[in-house]
Parts: sequence; C-alpha cells; structure tokens
Amino acid sequence: MSEPLLELRNLHVEADGASILRGVDLIVHEGEVHALMGPNGAGKSTLANVIMGHPGYVVTEGDILLKGENIASWTPDQRARAGIFLAFQYPEAISGVSVVQFLRQAIAARKGLSELSVLEVRLDLIEWMDRLGMDPAFAERHLNDGFSGGERKRNEVLQMALLEPALALLDETDSGLDIDALRVVARGVRTVRDENPAMGVVVVTHYVKLLEEIEPDQVHILVDGKIVHSGGAELAQLIEHEGYDAWRPVSL
Ligand SMILES: Nc1ncnc2c1ncn2[C@@H]1O[C@H](COP(=O)(O)OP(=O)(O)OP(=O)(O)O)[C@@H](O)[C@H]1O
Ligand SMILES: [Mg+2]
Repeated sequence: MSEPLLELRNLHVEADGASILRGVDLIVHEGEVHALMGPNGAGKSTLANVIMGHPGYVVTEGDILLKGENIASWTPDQRARAGIFLAFQYPEAISGVSVVQFLRQAIAARKGLSELSVLEVRLDLIEWMDRLGMDPAFAERHLNDGFSGGERKRNEVLQMALLEPALALLDETDSGLDIDALRVVARGVRTVRDENPAMGVVVVTHYVKLLEEIEPDQVHILVDGKIVHSGGAELAQLIEHEGYDAWRPVSL
C-alpha cells in the first residue's frame, strides 16, 4: 500500500505538565475514514488539536508524520497549508467577521496566497452552499455568532468543502445536536469525499448514529490516552450497547 497520509507513532503528549496521550499509534491512508470514540476526558480532542499543532500541547515522545514527513515541529499555519483541517468541538464566535470573509482568508492561507478575489471565492461558495442546501444569506452572517447547532455543522462542512483538505479532523460536539444536524455532517462528508476521494477523515464522536451514516473504515477506542482497541464499524454498535467499561483500566 502507498505511504500513509497520517501516521502517529508512539505519540506522547502533555499539557500544563499533565500527561494526556500516552503512546498513540494510528495510521490513516488516503481516502479512509477513521472514527475515534472514547469516554469524556480520554484525550480525543487533544489528539485532534496536537495533529493541528495547537501550541498548548507538547509532544514529549513519538512522531506525527504527514505523507512520511515529520510535522511535529511545524506551526499550525504550515500544517493548514499542507492540507490539515480541524473542525473544533466548540467553535468560537468571531463577531465582525462574516462567513465569507473568514473563508476568503482561510482559503488564501491554505493556498499560500496573500489574497483571493472576492469573485473567485463567491462562485465556489455559491456552488457549495447550493450543494449543501444552504441559504445564500448565511454567507453574510458573522462567524458562529448565534449559529444554531445545525448551522455550525453546515458551516463546518462548508469550510471543509472549500478548503479541500488532504486530512479533515472533525471533533464533533457531544450534546445538543438533533438527528438532522448529524445528517448534515454525514452527508456533507460524503459529498465532499465524492469530489475529493483522496481526503482522509478522522471523526471524533460519541454518536453511533453519525457513524452509521458515515460508515467509517475503522473505529478506534481511546481510553486514558491510549488506543485500547480498533475494529470495524461494528465496534461502534458494541459500545452503544456495552459502554466503555470493558476497556477501562481496573480501579478500586
Ligand atoms: N490545556 C490543557 N491543560 C491541562 N489539561 C488539559 C488540557 N487540555 C486537555 N486537558 C485534559 O486532558 C484530558 C483529555 O481532554 P480532552 O479534551 O482531550 O478529552 P476528550 O476525549 O476530547 O473528552 P470529551 O469526550 O469530553 O470531549 C482531560 O482530563 C482534560 O482536562
Ligand atoms: Mg473532546
């Protein structure tokens, strides 16, 4: 098989002196969808953030390889340019910056350009908003400002579609989303993958329903900073019924 898109080797990560990831190995090939599940506080968001290069996390051991290249010392900006995209678990509102303005900057950064013409972005934007069933007026709203859960999800998928990432990391919110909002993500991922079949996806979620729609190639269970089990989509069903108890470390 070709060189992996993403490879984590024995990754150890600390934040504020606390050890959070303790030896994670993960391989994602082009075109694959991997789901990451696990109890609250297991380190799932940390994993997504550290792949993106969040400065609050320190890699103390191990490697992060993107297409064979060690990116552990790269800035988030360099990683974005190399095609890594992260949709945050809790996206922040940015008042004064509209969806379209934000996208213009993000696409320019991704492509290593200082600026992009409004027209260029608009055409792509209109096309994708139509494809994703979004109201064009949405583009003028301030980013995440008062967005409903479903609107946040649509915005996340829109960003992914326009940025054409090589690797999309989706850290899904674990509460308050209705089934339609989950479908927005699932359908969005499928639509974007139809256009970019080589895109690799790592989706963090507690929702088995989301995974039923996304159909991941592999499911990994992260407990206490380690992947304790990997398997196919059926693993998600098992967790829905049995929870994580079987994989938790034995405690008194
Ligand atoms: N910057 C930080 N400083 C100190 N501790 C942190 C930091 N970031 C995360 N942690 C801790 O690391 C652990 C893992 O957090 P993380 O957010 O990665 O969990 P998670 O698996 O995403 O959980 P959830 O399912 O609730 O989203 C938690 O105990 C958290 O408090
Ligand atoms: Mg999280």
